[in-house]
Amino acid sequence: MSFSTKKFSFQQLVQGRKSIRRFLDKPVEKAKILACLEAARVAPSASNVQPWRFLVIDEPELIEKFGKEAFSGIYYPTKFAAKAPVIIVILARLDIIANRIGKEIQNIHYYYIDIGIAGEHIVLQAEELGLGTCWIGWFNPRKTRRFFKIPRKYKVVSLMAVGYYEKKPSRERKRKNLEDIVWFNKMP
Ligand SMILES: Cc1cc2nc3c(=O)[nH]c(=O)nc-3n(C[C@H](O)[C@H](O)[C@H](O)COP(=O)(O)O)c2cc1C
Repeated sequence: MSFSTKKFSFQQLVQGRKSIRRFLDKPVEKAKILACLEAARVAPSASNVQPWRFLVIDEPELIEKFGKEAFSGIYYPTKFAAKAPVIIVILARLDIIANRIGKEIQNIHYYYIDIGIAGEHIVLQAEELGLGTCWIGWFNPRKTRRFFKIPRKYKVVSLMAVGYYEKKPSRERKRKNLEDIVWFNKMP
C-alpha cells in the first residue's frame, strides 16, 4: 500500500500535530485506516506480547448511536467525537502472562504502556496521511463494552477519533520547557 504523502521531517510531523475535535463530513479511505493500523501492528510492546486489539467503527449511523451511549451524562464533553467519521476502540487483551507478571513484580500494567505506543503510532501515521486524530479517554467504558458486546478478556482502554479536518486549530501549543522536565545524570 503506498500513498503520496507530504514529505515532512519527523520533527515537523510531531511539532505540527494537534488533537482534532472538528471533523469534515467526509469518509476516510479504508486503505488509510489500514495504514494507520499497520503502523500500530509493528509497535514495540513489553515481551512482544502485542496486547492491543482494535475495533474500527466507520459507519456514521453506528458512530452516532454509539456516541449517545458512550458520551452521555458526565461524558457529555466528548460529544464532538460522535461526529468523527471513524472511531477506533482500543482494547487490551488481559489474559497475557507477561502482563500479569509485570503487574505482580513491578506493579506496572505494561499493557497501558503498550497501548499508548501503538495508539500514538496510529496518530503519527494519520498525521502523515493528512488525517486528524484525537485520543479519547473521557468516555463510558462500561456502555462501550455493552454496546459492542466486548468480551471480558479485553479491557476497553481508549477510543481514537480519526478523520479529515478543515484546518488545524490555531490554539497555541502549551508545553513545559525542556529544562523543567529533563535532568542529566543527577536529580536537581
Ligand atoms: C490518553 C489521552 C486521553 C485523552 N482524552 C481526551 C478526551 O477524552 N477528550 C479530549 O477532548 N481530548 C483528549 N485527549 C487529548 C488531549 O487533551 C491533548 O492531547 C492535549 O490537550 C494536548 O493537545 P494536542 O494534542 O493538541 O497537542 C487525550 C489525550 C491522551 C493522550
